[in-house]
Amino acid sequence: MSHPTGCCFAFLLLLLLFLSQSWSQEPNMDDERSSCSHCDPHFSCNCSHSGYTRVPVVTDHALMLNLAFNNITLVTDDDLTGHTRLRTLDLHSNGLAVIHPSAFDSLWNLVELDLSDNQLTALNHTWFSKLEALQQLNLLNNPYSRLGSSAPVFQGLIRLRKLAFGGPALKDLRRGDLSGVTQLDEFTVHANNLTRYESGALADIWPLGRVTLSLQGPIFTNVTMVSAVLGDVSYPETSITLEDLHLANNETVQCFREAASKRIRSIFFRNISLSDEATVNFMVVMNGVPITSISFDGITLTGEGRWERASWTDHKCIDEVFIRNAVVLDVFKFVSFLELKFLLHYPRKVSVINCKLFLMPCPTSQLLVNLHYLDLSDNLLTDFTLVESLCDTKPTLKELRVLNMSGNALKSLSTVSRLVAKLSKLTHLDISRTSYNSMPQSCPWPSTLRYLNISGAKLTTTTPCLPITLEILDLSNNDLKDFTQILPMLRELHLSGNKLLTLPDGSFFHSLQTLTIQSNTLNMFSSADLQSYRQLENLQAGENKFVCSCEFVTFLQSQLEGSGGVQLTDGEDSYVCDSPLYLQGKPVDQVHLSVVVCQRILFVSMSCGLALVVGVLVSVLLWRLHTFWYLKMTWAWLKAKKNSRRRHRDREGSEALLSFDAFVSYSERDASWVENFLVPELEEPSRDLRAPRPLNLCLHKRDFLPGHWIVDNIMSAMERSRRTVFVLSENFVQSDWCRYELDFSHFWLFDGQTGGDAAILILLEPLAKDDVPKRFCKLRKLMSSTTYLEWPQEEEKRGEFWRSLRNALRGDELD
Ligand SMILES: *[C@@H]1O[C@H](CO)[C@@H](O)[C@H](O)[C@H]1NC(C)=O
Ligand SMILES: *[C@@H]1O[C@H](CO)[C@@H](O)[C@H](O)[C@H]1NC(C)=O
Ligand SMILES: *[C@@H]1O[C@H](CO)[C@@H](O)[C@H](O)[C@H]1NC(C)=O
Ligand SMILES: *[C@@H]1O[C@H](CO)[C@@H](O)[C@H](O)[C@H]1NC(C)=O
Ligand SMILES: *[C@@H]1O[C@H](CO)[C@@H](O)[C@H](O)[C@H]1NC(C)=O
Ligand SMILES: *[C@@H]1O[C@H](CO)[C@@H](O)[C@H](O)[C@H]1NC(C)=O
Repeated sequence: MSHPTGCCFAFLLLLLLFLSQSWSQEPNMDDERSSCSHCDPHFSCNCSHSGYTRVPVVTDHALMLNLAFNNITLVTDDDLTGHTRLRTLDLHSNGLAVIHPSAFDSLWNLVELDLSDNQLTALNHTWFSKLEALQQLNLLNNPYSRLGSSAPVFQGLIRLRKLAFGGPALKDLRRGDLSGVTQLDEFTVHANNLTRYESGALADIWPLGRVTLSLQGPIFTNVTMVSAVLGDVSYPETSITLEDLHLANNETVQCFREAASKRIRSIFFRNISLSDEATVNFMVVMNGVPITSISFDGITLTGEGRWERASWTDHKCIDEVFIRNAVVLDVFKFVSFLELKFLLHYPRKVSVINCKLFLMPCPTSQLLVNLHYLDLSDNLLTDFTLVESLCDTKPTLKELRVLNMSGNALKSLSTVSRLVAKLSKLTHLDISRTSYNSMPQSCPWPSTLRYLNISGAKLTTTTPCLPITLEILDLSNNDLKDFTQILPMLRELHLSGNKLLTLPDGSFFHSLQTLTIQSNTLNMFSSADLQSYRQLENLQAGENKFVCSCEFVTFLQSQLEGSGGVQLTDGEDSYVCDSPLYLQGKPVDQVHLSVVVCQRILFVSMSCGLALVVGVLVSVLLWRLHTFWYLKMTWAWLKAKKNSRRRHRDREGSEALLSFDAFVSYSERDASWVENFLVPELEEPSRDLRAPRPLNLCLHKRDFLPGHWIVDNIMSAMERSRRTVFVLSENFVQSDWCRYELDFSHFWLFDGQTGGDAAILILLEPLAKDDVPKRFCKLRKLMSSTTYLEWPQEEEKRGEFWRSLRNALRGDELD
């Protein structure tokens, strides 16, 4: 009975196991981690904006991993295991709500971690406990209300130099929250809704480089608290940035008292609005504080500029005033700065950028007696208002070194040159992004002028108007087609974004060290072009329409490799072929032109030469091996064989007629012997009647049918002859091609038809077997197997010879 129960139980268990397995697998299937392979050769992986809901699988070699703008809501403990080399991890803007306590444990080498703009409601100190290399941490804009509840969050981060935290939910900052953070280069706190600050919470960080604070809410509700915060981060060396402030009245400004007492030197307001009351009281609070630099980026002036009530305050130390993106709400009521003598006397550096400034009245500019640097870029100055601003012929701005009027609606180069000519210390003039479209033939300039920037204007030509004292000249982004001015002191020339077809002649500027000429219409340049520049070190010539000829590609590749004195500092990627078509868009350093294309003439002549040599070699070889002869022979034999078979067929039935006793094969040079000795001896009837009948010889001279092919004739002659007599001699062996043919045919026929004794050899002169060339192997074989008759030189032995010959010829007749 126990058996089936046990079985049932086991089955149930298995089923349960199976079910639980498939259940536990299911969520995994849904959450299957996808992988991301957008890594560049430097192992920087950009997996942002890809809709990942989990940390994707990325190579362990990754050094930088950008996962920003995905929908990753959690990081598990093994999502990042193995990433021991990772240096940068960006999880910005992901909706991240859960991070496993040991999720970052393997990131020993992490230097930079960005968790900003997520949904982290609480920070856990265990996340960072292993990140000993971490230098930059961004925790901004997460909904946590305090930094840590149990233990200090940043305790282990001994290398931390850049920290940002806070957000709309941050309510509470207490002493000890930042323990472990001892020294920072950059410190950002967003505390717009801070309600509680324990004095001294931020006070232990020193040295402190730059502090950025957003305290928008508290400045209205709790000035004392803001004052405490500001006071805790204020040091003379620390530059303080305050964001998103609305300073409306005396009260809000009182928060700077603490900071003023710490004698801060540099203060920066970003996105601030200021009333007259606040301005005046701010100056009162800062009275006597050795503040040297005050900057505003995004400032709204709500008042009328009536600040003279603060004219008794002391701001002698002010050195630099920077104002960008200023808006004056009521421009028409706004008074001039004339009463601000107490302020304008001191600064050496003033920037008023993008403030819709259309005029700086001459009296105001005359107040700026100490000014070295004036930046009025991106305003609404015109030639007309410029005349007033620079006081026309009256002296002003005597100390000015740098004048920046970039991005104003200026049109007349002669006006500006006339106005600045009296600025006797001017070294830098920036009149870029203006509307200058022509140049007068000559212009006055201060003799001190070294730097001139007329980039982004509309110039089509240049003239000797350009001052020859220039060391740096920027003419980029104009419409220049050439540049031929002589500027002997010039060290830097910028001509990018024009329409130049060639490099300018270097002999015009023999001090030139840097030349930028990107985005023109250069087709190519060569080492000869570069040699005209004596001192050139840096060249940026990318993004042109390069014709990738062989010379250019070779030259540029060697330049990119760093040979030659001139460095191409804009990177090889910017040198791209425009033509020929099949190379269009290809970076020049990746072009490999073959020898066939580049050395066409050399290649053609070399290959012709090679072909000729090979041809000659082959011919010599063939000739040496007598290949032609063999080929010819084989062919002749094949043909003759066919004819012979046909003849056989024609004569079918009738017995082959043997009409000759012997066919005589001999060299033409031995013809006299054959005609004078052999033929008379064998063919003429003997006087002796007992003697046998005369023999009937076949001689090619006499018996061959004219008009027939010689090999055919030979075949037929041999078929019709009982024997073949070879008259061997030096001549026979060395005889001409025609003789070879005959001989060859003989041997083939002889081989195919009759037996060995069908051949009779006569040696006209002593001839060793070795004297016969190797290719007459048949003859050699014959000579060793058959006895031959030697033609005796002595008269008396000849009778015997003839007898032997006759016997040999009549062999079977006698039998
Ligand atoms: C990711 O989140 C954004 C908004 O946060 C949403 O519009 C989008 O549909 C989400 N994508 C996925 C794949 O969940
Ligand atoms: C933070 O303050 C802003 C106003 O500055 C307010 O609109 C917002 O609701 C506050 N947020 C929280 C989480 O209290
Ligand atoms: C500037 O500050 C105001 C509050 O003073 C804020 O409402 C606004 O969003 C800020 N603007 C920018 C661009 O940060
Ligand atoms: C501004 O406030 C401070 C301190 O509250 C006070 O001493 C000072 O007189 C006020 N100034 C003006 C102009 O109201
Ligand atoms: C002049 O201002 C423009 C724009 O603000 C800036 O790019 C340029 O560097 C400035 N020139 C000098 C010489 O400082
Ligand atoms: C010339 O001015 C342009 C635009 O203001 C700027 O981008 C460029 O850097 C300046 N050139 C030099 C050589 O400073």
